[in-house]
Amino acid sequence: MQLPDEAIAYDYKNLLAHPQDDWTPAAELRAQHFLSPDALQELTPRVLQVRSQVATERELKQIPPKLQPMQAGFINLPQALLDQHKRQNDASLLGRVLKLGDRLRAEVDRFVILGIGGSYLGARALFEAMRSSCHNDLPAKDRAGTPRIYFEGNNADNDTLHELFEMLSITCIDPEQRDERWGVTVISKGGDTLEPAAAFRAIRRELLEYYGNHSPRAKDLLVPITGATSKLRDLCRADGIPDENILPIPDDIGGRYSVFTPAGLLPAAVMGLDVRALLLGAAAMTKRFLEERFENNPILQYAAVNYLMYAKYQKPIRVMSIWSKKLEALGLWHDQLLAESLGKQGVGPTPLTALQTRDMHSRGQQHQDGARDKVINNVVVKAWTNPPIMIGMSERNEDDLNRFNRKGLPDVMRAALQGTNKAYLDAARPTADIVLPVISEHTLGQLMQMLMLATVVEGRLLGVNPYGQPGVQAYKANMIELLKQQATT
Ligand code: PA5
Repeated sequence: MQLPDEAIAYDYKNLLAHPQDDWTPAAELRAQHFLSPDALQELTPRVLQVRSQVATERELKQIPPKLQPMQAGFINLPQALLDQHKRQNDASLLGRVLKLGDRLRAEVDRFVILGIGGSYLGARALFEAMRSSCHNDLPAKDRAGTPRIYFEGNNADNDTLHELFEMLSITCIDPEQRDERWGVTVISKGGDTLEPAAAFRAIRRELLEYYGNHSPRAKDLLVPITGATSKLRDLCRADGIPDENILPIPDDIGGRYSVFTPAGLLPAAVMGLDVRALLLGAAAMTKRFLEERFENNPILQYAAVNYLMYAKYQKPIRVMSIWSKKLEALGLWHDQLLAESLGKQGVGPTPLTALQTRDMHSRGQQHQDGARDKVINNVVVKAWTNPPIMIGMSERNEDDLNRFNRKGLPDVMRAALQGTNKAYLDAARPTADIVLPVISEHTLGQLMQMLMLATVVEGRLLGVNPYGQPGVQAYKANMIELLKQQATT
């Protein structure tokens, strides 16, 4: 298959054991904690069988009870959206999302994204990866016409929501000025999750107060994104928002797999991202998943290696060690994906995001020297987006950095990564690398689809259903019960 230059790769050679190595204490430890190529080979037929199973699950019309819940819709979605867009243009779902994104960018200078868990983490990962880390502080002309972005409704924190309202009331005085207009999307598949629902109720009041009860803007600048039937949909209908202005989250796609539904795509469009490139990247990864041999298939390799590290080599902690600050939120998105998908029936790896080099100064000691319960997946970006910042010469050399004057921050990061990988190898700490050529919509599309597919494969290998999150219901039910009790006292 012809792969684009931006194809991402998974390289796990650093965690393979070499049984023929001469005996040393470190080689002995590596033999114990690193992956035996034989074990991987032995697992490969099973992994290929799981791939066929997952591919078949996409097509199932009747879901047998033991496979429920089944939410495999995310696998074909990126290509399906692109195909439909080609055929129907603005009338397609992607066409509607893009048009709405254009309109909102033209009309508002601030945009609030309400949602929790899978209904916001994907959008946040895309925002942090693709927009300037100072985006909200830049003047409008330097934000390429995209509004400032705020995430709320992802907590029951009174003070942050209050601070958002305070900021809006200080900065937005005249709704006739684009620079003083704000809009909001509320994203909730079930439509009854208390945190975003409570935040929405409060922000709806603010919206009506600012634009006026009868102003069309109070409706035009609000985009609900929800499932086919939900309390949120009912509320919006009752408010006079027509169904065609409510974007859908399909029934067969769960929250943490929903980044390529309008839940992730509408925010991406408002942020001015290249939504098609994102979907093309995801679709390319689905194709690789379905068609590539194990040897060239990053999804199957990643799932197999990590599964064996967990199930055979007793590494319950799965560290995603991220070597680009802009991808930290991607790590948080992955934490949820892995934790909610595989943490079931008393099993499942515990995800942990570490941001490097920052966390070398907090977690580094433990990862190098602590319990041997971790596998580390580095996420490495080969090329930086911006020109290198050089250390340079200085007339004051008390810091002793003149010796590195021709080096830049990319050199520092590369040395830190290589130094860390070597230190981990010497100490028999298993690490592998996910390599992105650059950070772009296309690579992010690939990476997110790769991690979602690998999670499903690993779930099937572990014997847990990667869809659904029955454990989350317990806290929700208790919280509602307690609130009911408080309401009657
Ligand atoms: O992955 C999931 O399904 C969950 O994390 C949900 O995204 C989260 O609970 C929010 O649910 P909802 O979109 O229904 O408000």
